[in-house]
Amino acid sequence: MTPEHLIVHQQPAPHVAHVQLHRPKELNALNLELMGELRDVLRQLDADDQVRAIVISGDEKAFAAGADIKQMADKTAIDMYNIDQFSTWDTIRRIKKPLIAAVSGFALGGGCELTMLCDLIIASETARFGQPEIKLGIMPGAGGTQRLTRAVGKALAMEMVLTGRLLTAEEAFQAGLINKIVPVPLYLQEAVKMAATIASMSPLAVRMAKEAVLKSFDTTLDEGLQFERKNFYLLFATEDQKEGMQAFVEKRKPVFKGR
Ligand code: CAA
Repeated sequence: MTPEHLIVHQQPAPHVAHVQLHRPKELNALNLELMGELRDVLRQLDADDQVRAIVISGDEKAFAAGADIKQMADKTAIDMYNIDQFSTWDTIRRIKKPLIAAVSGFALGGGCELTMLCDLIIASETARFGQPEIKLGIMPGAGGTQRLTRAVGKALAMEMVLTGRLLTAEEAFQAGLINKIVPVPLYLQEAVKMAATIASMSPLAVRMAKEAVLKSFDTTLDEGLQFERKNFYLLFATEDQKEGMQAFVEKRKPVFKGR
């Protein structure tokens, strides 16, 4: 089915897909329908051998201004429990291919949390990152207290979560939340360029490397090192490892096939 709240741009670069959040009048607020579509589209792209990296963007004014407040406003706790809107996010968290957020304008609440669910974040100079849920009488619910704290540390995370203060792109960069800031006309192009670079690598090595980096967030150093080592050894079973090393020896560019 064609998604209603997303635009899927096929192949802006070889082996790259681009998914655009598209509720521009609502600043791409993440309602249940959009998040369901995003989960389904990302799952399809994850299973597509032609796709090796995925860019997620909004538009120039907003990446996403958060979960849809109007959709949540009248809900009871039991409604929220039954709907369990964040279960969608668990699926997105398990996407194996690299996700690159291309952010311009607002990335607030669930929008900021979605960027943090991605593996890399490219921002335009106008990007603003924040967890303003406290101003609504609630708190972040899609990872904002956990991923933000791990990314920027306790002091800044507490300030953002307890006061709702937004970070400028420059502050987010200084705090280690994002990878790069570029002028507005270039943010999407830059994200696609980063995705294309990753897509030119061995997809199996990329997948195992992503898995190992993410592992570091929820394990001990010892277990993480063991996990990393196993993935490292396992990659020697791939043709891409032979090709990558052979190409180095022969002083040519490797051609990775994903096997
Ligand atoms: N949900 C629903 N609608 C939203 C929205 C949201 N999160 N954010 C913006 N909109 C709507 C506005 O209601 C408005 O619609 P109408 O034209 O029908 O009134 C339209 O988008 C444009 O927004 P504004 O007129 O407010 O635009 P602005 O430029 O003056 O302000 C803004 C921009 C500062 C981002 C402001 O819209 C805002 O504060 N938005 C809410 C941000 C927020 O609190 N996000 C957290 C949501 S809760 C959450 O995300 C929980 C979680 O952890 C998952």
